[in-house]
Amino acid sequence: MKFFIDTANLDQIREAQALGVLDGVTTNPSLMAKEGISGEENIKKHYLDICSIVDGDVSAEVISTSFEEMVKEGEALAALHPQIVVKVPMIQDGVKALRYFSDKGIKTNCTLVFSAGQALLAAKAGASYVSPFLGRLDDVSTDGIELIGQIVQIYDNYGFKTEVLAASIRHAMHIVRCAELGADVVTCPLAPILSLLKHPLTDQGLEKFLADHRNAQQG
Ligand code: E4P
Repeated sequence: MKFFIDTANLDQIREAQALGVLDGVTTNPSLMAKEGISGEENIKKHYLDICSIVDGDVSAEVISTSFEEMVKEGEALAALHPQIVVKVPMIQDGVKALRYFSDKGIKTNCTLVFSAGQALLAAKAGASYVSPFLGRLDDVSTDGIELIGQIVQIYDNYGFKTEVLAASIRHAMHIVRCAELGADVVTCPLAPILSLLKHPLTDQGLEKFLADHRNAQQG
């Protein structure tokens, strides 16, 4: 399973990269705005900065909602750097744009996916990745994890090449459940990734090993 970090914060991306487990980055307009990135040139520069830190795919989301504008914007984003994946919303013109980009050999990430039907359509349109938002489903009392399982099953049934990129991950157990279900990728902030390494018995065990070692040196 691949680990992507879901942020536009360069320090967090560097920290995840330094950990040696990072396979890519996802961003969205809200995450870019959170870092205060605005204006076409600044946005492009920021994507290039991200590409210079990581080796893998970097999702850059279109702001347009019409087919023609999405194609124009997506082609410009894709031309920025070979690591750029064009992120397209699950709307009618978005599905058309996914097919267009797929036919042109441009990688895509279909975002804002909340149902198995949407995921099926994204795969049919040739999306490289599909992003079901499991945390946001949990927020409205719907089982996000169940959706991940459904999509993995449907893609397996028909051999779709689209990768399941579990998004809107909130905590370590989301990551573990996605791994159990066979999601291809998880994307989340740095904190859930770091919380995977935590266990009180690890801390207690290490403390005891070091104390025993210290005592042996003194004896
Ligand atoms: C995915 O690509 C999205 O950027 C993201 O995972 C959304 O997560 P959120 O629900 O925490 O905003």
